[in-house]
Amino acid sequence: MNGDTRLPVAVLISGTGSNLKALLEASAAGAAYRVVTVLSNRPEAGGLAHAAAAGVPATVIDHRRHPDRESFDRALLEALAPHAPQLVVLAGFMRVLTPLFVRRWAGRLLNIHPSLLPAWRGLDTHRRVLAAGERRHGASVHFVTEGLDEGPVIVQAEVPVEDGDDEARLAARVHTVEHRIYPLAVDWFGRGWLRQDGDRVWFRGRILDRPLRYPDDEAAWHAP
Ligand code: GAR
Repeated sequence: MNGDTRLPVAVLISGTGSNLKALLEASAAGAAYRVVTVLSNRPEAGGLAHAAAAGVPATVIDHRRHPDRESFDRALLEALAPHAPQLVVLAGFMRVLTPLFVRRWAGRLLNIHPSLLPAWRGLDTHRRVLAAGERRHGASVHFVTEGLDEGPVIVQAEVPVEDGDDEARLAARVHTVEHRIYPLAVDWFGRGWLRQDGDRVWFRGRILDRPLRYPDDEAAWHAP
């Protein structure tokens, strides 16, 4: 979009891309960012269709064509450069990034993880939450650091685990809140409200002593 001065954002995906879709819709509705490019490590990722529908250029960088993680990450960095993003957003991107990439984007790299971090880092969170008999689950948006799913958390949303849940039902419930909190967090970054400071998060000029909660803390982002 010519003349659009909102924060330019790159979104990295591997799969369905429902979070990408939510991010695109919020941007179209006036959030403080625009998606300038989408990268996928999988040619068959369903999310590529969302990029195409929104007119956002997308590139596939197939990790299987790279001999090691650093070579793949270098290809990602090269693909990002011409689009000049100021924030990189991982949205269901299922590759572990090397320090090469994480250091290049430190403080400007976000991820969404399907759990109430620091609980349930890693893969298969819905299955593990069900197996453990937990009654609460959720999603977290965090800054990415070199430790897997360890970066400081910005905002979280909780969902209940209900009787009779299976992985698909629970995942769908988590997705609905992911689609709320990810566009919010990226909008905050676009407004200049967020900053990573080591393992802490600054939000609107103060350090968070705990992650923001959606929707309970909404006064914090609706306040003038
Ligand atoms: C989301 O639930 C996201 O939290 C999760 O993958 C899903 C992608 O869905 N991410 C991770 O597990 C990262 N470790 P989507 O492709 O429909 O956005």
